[in-house]
Amino acid sequence: MSETILEMSVRVLDAGQKAALRKALGRSTSMKRGNEVIVSIAGIADFAASDADWQAFREAIVADAPEFLRESPQEYGDFQTPLSLARVVCQRLFDIGYRPKVLIEPTCGKGNFIIAALELFPSIRKVFGLEIQGDYVTECKARLLATLLSRPELKREIHINQGNIFAEVLTPEVLQIGAGEVLILGNPPWVTNTTLSALDSTNLPAKSNFKKHAGLDALTGKSNFDIAEFILLQLIRGFTKTQATVAMLCKNTVIRNLVEATSEQALPINNLRAFTFDAAKEFGVAADASLFVADITNDLGAKTCTLADLRGDSTKRVFGWVGKNFVADVARYKNARGIEGVSSVVWRQGIKHDCAEIMELTEEGDGWRNGADESVRIENDRVFPLAKSSDLKLHVVTTLRKAVIVPQESVGQDTTWLKQSNPRLWKYLSSHSDAFNARRSVIYKDKPPFSIFGVGDYSFKPYKVAMSGLYKSSHFSLLLPVNGKPVMLDDTCYLLGFDSLGQASIALGLLNSEPVQDFLKAIVFPDSKRPYTKDVLMRIDLQKVAALVSAKSVSDYLSKLEGADLNFELEDYEFFSSRGLAEEQTMFMMERGPAFHAGRRR
Ligand SMILES: C[S@@+](CC[C@H](N)C(=O)[O-])C[C@H]1O[C@@H](n2cnc3c(N)ncnc32)[C@H](O)[C@@H]1O
Repeated sequence: MSETILEMSVRVLDAGQKAALRKALGRSTSMKRGNEVIVSIAGIADFAASDADWQAFREAIVADAPEFLRESPQEYGDFQTPLSLARVVCQRLFDIGYRPKVLIEPTCGKGNFIIAALELFPSIRKVFGLEIQGDYVTECKARLLATLLSRPELKREIHINQGNIFAEVLTPEVLQIGAGEVLILGNPPWVTNTTLSALDSTNLPAKSNFKKHAGLDALTGKSNFDIAEFILLQLIRGFTKTQATVAMLCKNTVIRNLVEATSEQALPINNLRAFTFDAAKEFGVAADASLFVADITNDLGAKTCTLADLRGDSTKRVFGWVGKNFVADVARYKNARGIEGVSSVVWRQGIKHDCAEIMELTEEGDGWRNGADESVRIENDRVFPLAKSSDLKLHVVTTLRKAVIVPQESVGQDTTWLKQSNPRLWKYLSSHSDAFNARRSVIYKDKPPFSIFGVGDYSFKPYKVAMSGLYKSSHFSLLLPVNGKPVMLDDTCYLLGFDSLGQASIALGLLNSEPVQDFLKAIVFPDSKRPYTKDVLMRIDLQKVAALVSAKSVSDYLSKLEGADLNFELEDYEFFSSRGLAEEQTMFMMERGPAFHAGRRR
C-alpha cells in the first residue's frame, strides 16, 4: 500500500525539522490548525486531507521527541475524579434544581463526570467531551459503551473528541447548541503556569490569547496562577448568551481568585456557591478544594460566594466583597469591623537570610553547631535567640532551641567592620562565602557581604509580640528576652517590638482578645499559603481595640497566662488608648498610599 503524504513526511523529515514543527504546532491537535501552521511555515495548502491521517502524523512527531520533551501527567494536572465523587456532585446539582439539556465536559479524562451525569440527569439530550490525552479519549469512549450497553435507557447523542481546550473553541455556536440549559461540568487540570514553565510545557493558552483575555492580569495579579482559572474564565465568557452553569471541582485558591476578580472585572456570573470536600481523601492532594458552581448570566454578577459542605446541608459562611474589602466571612466582618483602621504601631516581618545552614546555630557546650554539622566558635555578641513559626505555639515564649547570627543592625549596613570587631565571626562567614554567593534572590545583589533583610532597631527591642504568617491559628505570642538577649524572628513571622514589658503585655492582651480574633477570622482565609501578612495585621487599629477591651479584661487575661508574671501600669495602657497617629504609622500610610484603603487584599 502506498504511503500517505503524512507517513512520507514523518519518514523524510530529520530530527531538527520535526522539532521545529512540534514547536510551531504547540499542543494543538486539530487538523484545521495544523494545516494553518503548515501554510504559515511552508505555504503548502491543504497539507492534511483527513483527520485520522493528521492525528497519526501528530502522534508520530510527538513520539519522535526526546523523552524529556514528552508530556508528563504533571503538565496535564491530571487527577481523575472518582466515579463516587462525580455521582455525589451530580446528585447535589440535581438536588439544588439543575436539569440540564446539554452537558459539556471540557477536559473529560476517563469520563467519570459524563457517566455520573447520564445516570443522574435524565434531562440531558446531548453530551460534548474534550480531552487532550488520546488514551483517555479511548478509555472514555470504551467506558461509555460499556455503561450504555448495560443501561441502554441512558443512551444520548454523545461526542467525545481529542483536543486541546486552549486551541478548540467551545461555544454554543460552534457546538450548535439550541435552547435549553447547559451544564459545563468537570474538573479542570490542577497545575500552575510556573510548574508548566519549569517542565518546559506548552499546555498553556497561546500568549496572544492571554492578552486578548482582558483583565487576566487583574484576575491573577501575580505571575503564578492555576490554569484552571483561565479555563473557567474562557468558558464563562463563551457562554454568556446561553442559559448555562459552570460546576467545576477546583482548588479553593482558584475559586477565591475568581470571586475576588468579580470586583475589577464585572464577571458575568451569579449565584456563586462553593461546596467543600476533602481533596486529600478523594484525590490524595494536599490542597483545599471545592465544587464551584456559578450561573453564567448576561448581567453583571454577584460579588460574594456561599460556602457549604458538599455532603452537608448547612451554609458555612459567605465570602467575598463588602464594599472595598474582600473578606472571608461577610456576616462576621459586618459585626467585627469596628476595630478596622491602621495600626498605630508598625508590624514587621522577621529576618530573611536564605542561608540557614550557616546562619542558624544550635547550642553545643560553650559554642555552637551549624546546619552543616560543623562546630562553630565565634564571638557571641552577634548571635541572638531565634524563634520560628513552630516556636510560637504558646502565648508566652521564654526558651528557644535555635540562635541566629545577625551581622547587621539595619538593612544595607556595611559589614566589613566585623573584620575588626568580630574577627572569628568574620572568618567563619568568609569561609562560607560560597553559600552566601549562591543565594538566588536578587535582593542580595550588590549588597555588603553576608547581608540580611528584615532587620532594624525594632529587631533589638527586648520585648516582642509575634505571630506566624503561615499557620492557620490566629493567636499571638509574647517573646521575652532569652539569657538577656532580645529574640529574633524568622521571615515566616510578623512582630511588634517594645521597650516596655507592660506595653508588650497589653499588646498581647489586646491582640488575643475576642474583637481582634473575630476580626481576623472575618478577613483571613486560613487555607491561603500565608494567611497572615503585614497588610492584614496593619488593619488592626489597637486604639479602637483598646476602646472596646478594658484594662481590667487585659489584666485578667494576663493573670491566667503561664510562663511569666505579667502586669502593666495604667500609663502603658494609655500608650494604646490615647496615642494619636504615630509618625511611623503616617509613614506607612504614605508608603502604601490610597491603595491600602482601597485595594486591601487578603
Ligand atoms: C484534573 S483531571 C480531571 C479529568 C476529568 N475531568 C475528571 O474529572 O475525572 C484534568 C484532565 O484535563 C486534561 N487536560 C489537561 N490539559 C488539557 C488541555 N489543554 N485540553 C484538554 N484537556 C486537558 C488531562 O489530561 C486530565 O484528564
